[in-house]
Amino acid sequence: MINVTVNGREHAFDGPPEMPLLWFLRDVLGMTGTKFGCGMALCGACTIHLDGTAVRGCVTPVAAAAGKKVTTIEGLSPDVSHPLQKAWQEFNVAQCGYCQPGQIMQAASLLKTTPKPNDAEIDAAMGGNLCRCGTYTRIRAAIKRAAEGGAA
Ligand code: FES
Ligand code: FES
Repeated sequence: MINVTVNGREHAFDGPPEMPLLWFLRDVLGMTGTKFGCGMALCGACTIHLDGTAVRGCVTPVAAAAGKKVTTIEGLSPDVSHPLQKAWQEFNVAQCGYCQPGQIMQAASLLKTTPKPNDAEIDAAMGGNLCRCGTYTRIRAAIKRAAEGGAA
């Protein structure tokens, strides 16, 4: 049995420990905010937090989350009030939206360690999160807004 805490709620899982966290979240818990893109840690669509740090859910086994705290886009804030979520709305960042949960979770991890990131730091942190709609300019602007506290 593996005990995993997701967005503050504990779950006991008796399935295969090697199951990717992404499948556990989507298929077992029915939390579909976290997206599947490549399945190979190449696109960032599945980005979640493990004890506050961004990881790729598609290549992280459930066993790696035993006794740890998983946070998904559904749990980033109770009412979509995280500064990044507000800034995303202000700048109308999303286009098709598919990559955006992963983008926001990656950005949230960045702001935890680097509260006022410069362009280079944003690019370095966000470089592994792909957006087929090309929303990169708005993503960077929204991260800066959230860092300024303008969207808080
Ligand atoms: S689906 Fe995990 S990085 Fe692409
Ligand atoms: S908004 Fe469409 S893939 Fe990023």
